[in-house]
Amino acid sequence: MRLLITAGPTREPIDPVRYISNRSSGKMGYAIAEAALAEAHEIILISGPVNLEPPGNAKVISVSTSDEMFEAVHRYADECDICVLCAAVADYKAANVSSTKIKKRGAKFSLGLIPTRDILDSLGHQQDRQFVLVGFAAETDHVEENAAKKLRAKNCDIIVANDVSGADSGMESDVNEVIIFFRNGEKKEISRAPKKNIARELVKIFLDFATKTFDKKNVMIN
Ligand code: PMT
Repeated sequence: MRLLITAGPTREPIDPVRYISNRSSGKMGYAIAEAALAEAHEIILISGPVNLEPPGNAKVISVSTSDEMFEAVHRYADECDICVLCAAVADYKAANVSSTKIKKRGAKFSLGLIPTRDILDSLGHQQDRQFVLVGFAAETDHVEENAAKKLRAKNCDIIVANDVSGADSGMESDVNEVIIFFRNGEKKEISRAPKKNIARELVKIFLDFATKTFDKKNVMIN
C-alpha cells in the first residue's frame, strides 16, 4: 500500500529571525515511516524541520510552515491508501509577518495571531475520500475524552492519542504510550515502549483496518 505520513513540527514565521513552533522531534512519524518501509510499503513522508536522517526509500518532502504542509498533503493524499497525520502542526500563526526584525521595545508587546488551516479536518471532510485517515491527538489532560472528540470533529477513521504532558514520553522522547480510537467506538492501547516498537504495532493496526475497509468496499461494488 502507499502511505502518506506527516511528521515533526511546523514553523510559523514572525519576522526574518523568529517563529512559533513546538517541541515535536519527528521521531514518532519517522518511526512509523521506517516500520511501514520495512514491510515493503511505499511511503511519502512530509516532514517539518527535524534533526533526523530521512528513511531510505521514502519520498521525503520537506516543508516548514503549516501552509506548506497543507499544500503538500493535499497534493499527494488522493494518491495514497492511508494518510497518517502525526505532525504537530501549529494551531496559530502571526496575523502579519514582519519583513524586518522586530525591534526590542520597552513597553509590553503583543503579537496578533490567527488560526492556521487544519489539515486533518480538511481531509476528513473531503467529499468522496477514498483513503483511510489517521490522526494523532497530543493531549495534556482528559486524554481519552479529548481524543474521542477530535476523532468525531475531524471525521477521521482512527485517532492515536498520546499524553504529551511529561518529558519522559510523547513529545521529543524516544518512548511513547498510546490509545487508539476507531470510528466504531472500539479502542486499543499500546503500553509504554520505544517509539520504534509502537510504530510497528501501529502500522499493523492501520494496514489491518485499511485492508478490511477496502475489502468491504469491493464486496459492495461486486
Ligand atoms: O515528534 P515527536 O517528538 O516524536 O512527538 C510525537 C507527537 C507527540 C508530535 C505525535 O505523537 C503527535 O501526537 N502528533 C500530533 C500533534 C498534534 O498537533 O496534535 P493535536 O491534538 O494538536 O492535533 C490533532 C490532529 O490534527 C493531528 O493529527 C495534527 O496533525 C492535526 N492538525 C492540527 C492542527 C492543524 N492546523 N492541522 C492539523 O492537521
